[in-house]
Amino acid sequence: MLHDKIMQLKKEKDAVILAHNYQLPEVQDVADYVGDSLGLSRQAAKTPHKTILFCGVHFMAETAAIICPDKKVLIPDLAAGCSLADSINVDQLRDWKQQHPGAITVGYVNTSAEVKSELDYCCTSSNAVNVVKAIPKDKDVLFLPDMFLGSYVAKMTGRKNMYIWAGECHVHAGIRSEDIHKLLDSNPNSELLVHPECSCTSQIMYDVAVGDYKNRQVQIMSTEGMMNYAKQSTGQNFVVATETGILYRMQQQNPEKNFIPASRGAICQYMKMITLDKVYSSLMEEKYEVRVPKQTADKARLAIDRMLAIN
Ligand code: 13P
Ligand code: SF4
Repeated sequence: MLHDKIMQLKKEKDAVILAHNYQLPEVQDVADYVGDSLGLSRQAAKTPHKTILFCGVHFMAETAAIICPDKKVLIPDLAAGCSLADSINVDQLRDWKQQHPGAITVGYVNTSAEVKSELDYCCTSSNAVNVVKAIPKDKDVLFLPDMFLGSYVAKMTGRKNMYIWAGECHVHAGIRSEDIHKLLDSNPNSELLVHPECSCTSQIMYDVAVGDYKNRQVQIMSTEGMMNYAKQSTGQNFVVATETGILYRMQQQNPEKNFIPASRGAICQYMKMITLDKVYSSLMEEKYEVRVPKQTADKARLAIDRMLAIN
């Protein structure tokens, strides 16, 4: 069985497998750690293994390669990209910085290594609010590339001097508040878990503020935040607004609870490029190695280290 062969190869190659919460179930099953972007970066930073096989998208493997310059970082398919990371390149960022001299740049981890090398701070969905809170109030902030996460952070921090790049993740942009409302109407006792990359985040925050959700629990959080919340909540039913790959682990960890996807079409084709066959060949042939040029990595590491330091 492929699963067993991979488990054996992992030992022979002294490799650790890190997988994002959106990975296919069978890929999650061979991983040593499954989690969100921040958790995966933290695991990469502390792994004693010689090789990191990253089951996620390219910017995640690049981040691991920057954090661990002495390890071999492999991704099973180099084409596993990210529409959000592609929404800004390093030249666009340099131009934007020139238009706002003195501003502090905060970039989501969903960016290329080159873009990270031009950032002051990197953040993920789990610590974006705290990263922006750590910046002196009188400093302008350039936040990129996700506009929905950006406006959520601006609302949570009450910051007026924040400029937000108009990028989006096509998967989360497609999760609409009308669909969520319909689902909540037909599941009156359910709680709502929302990823801040969703286009409906601001609308939901507004609806909560004006009392539209009454006593219903609504949480806006990273994928691992959702995992933790689902486990500790006394609720039984949850509408989950993010990529549907997360439902596998949620259901596995909480077999007695009921999880309903906010949109069944919220599937990231990049995440799903990582199949078990490719994981096997990747380990076997030690391909595809993700390398970041030293000069870019050294600069990007400063922003990433700041991200890892803030919860
Ligand atoms: P997190 O798992 O860090 O919340 O990020 C979601 C995502 O879209 C990763 O690509
Ligand atoms: Fe990128 Fe969106 Fe896919 Fe995450 S779900 S990897 S943000 S395209």
